[in-house]
Amino acid sequence: MWPKAWKLNKVDSKDQIALERLPRHIAIIMDGNGRWAKKRALPRSMGHRAGVEALRKVVKTCSNLGIEVLTVYAFSTENWSRPKDEVGVLMTLLTEYLRKELQELHENNVVIRAIGGINDLPQEAQRELDNSIKRTRNNTGLILNLALNYGGRSEIIDAVKKISKDVLNGKQQIEDIDEGRFSNALFTRGLPDPDLMIRTSGEMRLSNFLLWQLAYTEIVVIEELWPDFGEKALLAAIITYQKRDRRFGGIHTD
Ligand code: IPE
Ligand code: IPE
Ligand code: MG
Repeated sequence: MWPKAWKLNKVDSKDQIALERLPRHIAIIMDGNGRWAKKRALPRSMGHRAGVEALRKVVKTCSNLGIEVLTVYAFSTENWSRPKDEVGVLMTLLTEYLRKELQELHENNVVIRAIGGINDLPQEAQRELDNSIKRTRNNTGLILNLALNYGGRSEIIDAVKKISKDVLNGKQQIEDIDEGRFSNALFTRGLPDPDLMIRTSGEMRLSNFLLWQLAYTEIVVIEELWPDFGEKALLAAIITYQKRDRRFGGIHTD
């Protein structure tokens, strides 16, 4: 039988967390908004709205803990296949979120970044995003990295094209292409790979998220639906991460 997603124990304080061994980069697949709404006989849009609230809480907790990077999967390249109305709601929520939260994020020293096909987002969303990125550029706190119109496969193809161009114009020797060079051609250039990847709502798949970057990431799948996710669940996921034995292909010699 395949293992079921485990329920994490709730923790009441930050005490059980080893603050000196925090994940530098946490990535989250924020899944389950639709199911959350369905359970309450609400339209899916209400689930997405509730999902934004969960995001606000998680950003705050990550910032308070001193996490370096939080990457959240907000819209995938495949999500365009959803009904037009739902795509519209998601784009409006993104614009609204940035408009409403920017000031508070800025005051809390958060740096806003984005990965994905940003140029294909609606104009208004692009404008808000641009403004938020510029405004928070010189902050030094949590990097909130929004994956928007993001797909791991298209990111990799994009990187291959960039490097190929450099090969053609003589700036890049084929023999010198290594993992570091490749990482630098990805949207996540300059960021450490995620240490912990959390997916809510029990689904055991990557859904085209950070395919290159997750090579050695610890994955924690939890049953809670994204709108129900909050500080306690995040702390519990970090504690689970801290109990893992990361071997990176090696063995312990002690
Ligand atoms: C995640 O919730 C939000 C996005 C994908 C944008 P879903 O909308 O996928 O919710 P479920 O999976 O249908 O419950
Ligand atoms: C992944 O969730 C994408 C985001 C959370 C933005 P989906 O709900 O789109 O993934 P699938 O369809 O269940 O694989
Ligand atoms: Mg989903």
